[in-house]
Amino acid sequence: FNTIIEPFRIHSVEPIKLMSRDERKSAIEKAKYNVFNIPAKDVLIDLLTDSGTGAMSRDQWAAIQHGDESYAGSPSWEIFREAVVDLFDFKHIIPTHQGRAAEKILFSSIAGDGMVIPSNTHFDTTRANIEFVGAQGVDLVIEEGKDPATIHPFKGNMNTDALRELIDRVGPQNIPIIMLTITNNSGGGQPVSMANIEEVSKIAHEFNIAFFLDACRFAENAWFIRLREAGYENMDVKEIVKKMISYADGMTMSAKKDPLANIGGWLACNDDLLAEKARNMLILTEGFPTYGGLAGRDLEAIAVGLKEAISHDYLQYRITSTSYLGDALDKAGIPVVKPYGGHAIYIDARAFLSHIPPLQYPGQALAVALYEMGGIRGCEIGTVMFGMTPQGTEVPATMDLVRLAIPRRTYTQSHIDYVIEVAKKVAEDAKGLKGYKITKAPQFLRHFTAEFERL
Ligand code: F0G
Repeated sequence: FNTIIEPFRIHSVEPIKLMSRDERKSAIEKAKYNVFNIPAKDVLIDLLTDSGTGAMSRDQWAAIQHGDESYAGSPSWEIFREAVVDLFDFKHIIPTHQGRAAEKILFSSIAGDGMVIPSNTHFDTTRANIEFVGAQGVDLVIEEGKDPATIHPFKGNMNTDALRELIDRVGPQNIPIIMLTITNNSGGGQPVSMANIEEVSKIAHEFNIAFFLDACRFAENAWFIRLREAGYENMDVKEIVKKMISYADGMTMSAKKDPLANIGGWLACNDDLLAEKARNMLILTEGFPTYGGLAGRDLEAIAVGLKEAISHDYLQYRITSTSYLGDALDKAGIPVVKPYGGHAIYIDARAFLSHIPPLQYPGQALAVALYEMGGIRGCEIGTVMFGMTPQGTEVPATMDLVRLAIPRRTYTQSHIDYVIEVAKKVAEDAKGLKGYKITKAPQFLRHFTAEFERL
């Protein structure tokens, strides 16, 4: 059958609000043309992020009732720890309220002035946390990963020649860890192959450097390995996940993505000294080591979500429904990053709005247009997000993309059909869209709160 069957039926519903185009025009103007400033109630289809926006299952809600809020040694902690270790077999599991808290604790514990942390591509919060401690994040994704139109099964792979060259240039003593983001969110949600994970791990260990995974979308990455890498077509996703993890010395995690929770995360590692440092930091900012930044009920929701995240039926639906959106936009002549990522479709705004130069933010122009036209909220991943250097100068980002992130189990196919219709309408008058200038921006992560003026 060709119909994509959602492997669930709806048990509880949330209303969404229909507004007129004029109402949306005034809402986005009031938001200073930054979609992060729009009240969520004024958004019809919210594709801003797949983070924390998934629908929990009845089993997760039931687990929430089972949550035990004891300060120390809660049984919910044991349930959480066992579920995490079942997939991610590290010696130390340190729960945090979300991924960036794990990053903050990790980098404050291991990095500092003059250090360099390579990755395929660091996510924005990861890069910001690295720069916050005076270190430098270096992105070494393969060339294919920088070109939206090039087809490659694992565009999230790291260029290992460039990694060796970097280690040679800055010295292994200045590289506390090497990371891989699976899947590579900022590069289009592209997976990393098992072979590349293995090779990066080998290089790291050759120089005595620890190897960490930013594993937010581990299940989607594993599914792509099963689909695309020889030798894995019959392997259970759980086994693929365990194999990916076997190459790493630690991980950071946002439980708001593949683990299907609304909040949560963790830092995991095998190194006793690092774990001790991290736990000391944890107590300062997050909480006691058996709950970190989370309530007992959250720990239990994550434990159940982790089991659901690796279901083959679920992953089959998840990846096929994402490519359904990609295929439709592609057929309509809208340039999209290919092959399609797992959690999102990325429109190549630089190609789509080629009349708007990168420093006038074509991605921002497209994100605003999608909201004005149909109440769809996507997110610029381009020069607004990455264009500001630590030195305070502005340069075009590698790509100017608009990400339509798909919350897990939240929208139906008819919602996505509507998104496709709106995007086609925007495409009809693409040449009429104007660029933007920034009128106000904070020092870090400017895309969240920057204000814009239409040119
Ligand atoms: N790493 C990656 C690859 C991410 O995509 C994110 C979050 C984080 C780390 C940080 O996790 O939000 O729990 O603190 N990405 C979200 C997104 C925000 O929209 O892509 P967090």
